[in-house]
Amino acid sequence: MRTTFYALLTLCSTALAAVIVPGAAWTDTSGNSIQAHGAGIIQVGSTYYWLGEDKAKNSTLFSAVSCYTSSDLVSWTRQNNALTPIAGTMISSSNVVERPKVLYNKANAEYVMWFHSDTEDYGAAMVGVAVAKTPCGPYTYKGSFAPLGAQSRDESVFQDDDADQTAYLLYASDNNADFKISKMDTNYYNVTQQVNELAGATLEAPGMIKRDGVYWLFASHTSGWSPNPNKYFSASSISSTFSAQADLTAEATNTFYSQNAYDWPLASGNAIYMGDRWNANVPSISSYIWLPLSWATGVSQLTWADVWSVDLATGAWTIATGTTYQAEAGVRSGSSTILSNSAYSNGEAVGYLGNGGSVTITVQGIGAEQWVSCYIANGDSTWRNSTVSVNGGTPIVMQQPSTGGGLVILSVPIKLNLKSGSNTITFGAGQSNYAADLDKIVVYTAT
Ligand SMILES: *[C@@H]1O[C@H](CO)[C@@H](O)[C@H](O)[C@H]1NC(C)=O
Ligand SMILES: *[C@@H]1O[C@H](CO)[C@@H](O)[C@H](O)[C@H]1NC(C)=O
Ligand SMILES: *[C@@H]1O[C@H](CO)[C@@H](O)[C@H](O)[C@H]1NC(C)=O
Repeated sequence: MRTTFYALLTLCSTALAAVIVPGAAWTDTSGNSIQAHGAGIIQVGSTYYWLGEDKAKNSTLFSAVSCYTSSDLVSWTRQNNALTPIAGTMISSSNVVERPKVLYNKANAEYVMWFHSDTEDYGAAMVGVAVAKTPCGPYTYKGSFAPLGAQSRDESVFQDDDADQTAYLLYASDNNADFKISKMDTNYYNVTQQVNELAGATLEAPGMIKRDGVYWLFASHTSGWSPNPNKYFSASSISSTFSAQADLTAEATNTFYSQNAYDWPLASGNAIYMGDRWNANVPSISSYIWLPLSWATGVSQLTWADVWSVDLATGAWTIATGTTYQAEAGVRSGSSTILSNSAYSNGEAVGYLGNGGSVTITVQGIGAEQWVSCYIANGDSTWRNSTVSVNGGTPIVMQQPSTGGGLVILSVPIKLNLKSGSNTITFGAGQSNYAADLDKIVVYTAT
């Protein structure tokens, strides 16, 4: 009996190997969608806490700052809400609370949350501060204010590794034109002194990592809910001039259709980029783009990974490999057409999917729910969607971000229940809708 029990345990832990699948619909341990956008992460002992914006109501107005816990950064359990609306204040349900970030103040044995606090029209441009004795709180709201009398919209916090654990507010100010860094007081309740300014930089969505004594700042430019090429900057002290902006990855991808939210340092000296893929029309389905952030070239560079995992003890990551199937090798129907361009894998893709057109690709499965990464191009400025049907079953909908006017190919994951052996996967988009063009799909066995 005992032997069987342990054998089963081993099987289960193998099956639950924790993989990160950027852009997938992430669910918590109760099976509900993870609602923690504009993330802030803090580690306490061996537990990770993820605080973020709950957008389940599909509104940009304040509903809650959620709090999730994990021991591996992949499997997340929802806890009590960390902050909820208070009528008649700057954090009412008709206000905006974004980008919550938590610091631990050792001197006061207190958790301090900073967030972007605003009115619905983003006209107030303030920061809010709330405190708690435990990482998930609930937090007690202290108030909202304009730091040093100036505007603050997208913000983050950074805690230095000096003996005093000096903390800083990183924020978009002056109508998002200037990016500022100000030092906090010893309680982390207020800022006392501006220590840096990237004048005219038009940055938002900041994050910072200190690595070998160098301060690396990450931020996007301003383009509303649509992504743009996120940048990195470095400086030898937090108050010295930062290097000129440089791309985190190839510009055309718009940071793999994401915007920076937080950057988690790993034991290896590399990091995890934690971005948001905002869906402005349906905020609740905005997804999380967490990717390897490496300094292998001496500067920070973001690499795409369909399916990957991190060993948190060493910081080493593993990018899964799958089996590739070219879309043009599939069986086409209706209006679907083969497109040729050297940007496509093998030089070809399938276009005009939808309005009756479809392509059916035969793949090998292992008899499990498997990740399938669909490499798509959507030249529209808005999202498209595709129906995906396995072995002729009920189609599910795959959302497909805009990949812009140039021919940019983006990988979008979907989890499909494949039987052992041959399966057909049919991509279409009904009778009155066009899906994105499909270059190839990659089938993974990691679950
Ligand atoms: C938000 O949108 C999602 C996806 O369309 C939907 O499932 C959910 O019911 C919506 N939530 C509300 C409160 O309307
Ligand atoms: C923050 O400090 C400034 C002075 O530097 C002060 O005017 C302001 O009232 C303080 N704000 C809060 C919320 O304590
Ligand atoms: C799919 O896209 C079409 C066209 O943009 C849109 O009208 C439709 O609502 C979308 N369907 C889903 C399920 O997102």
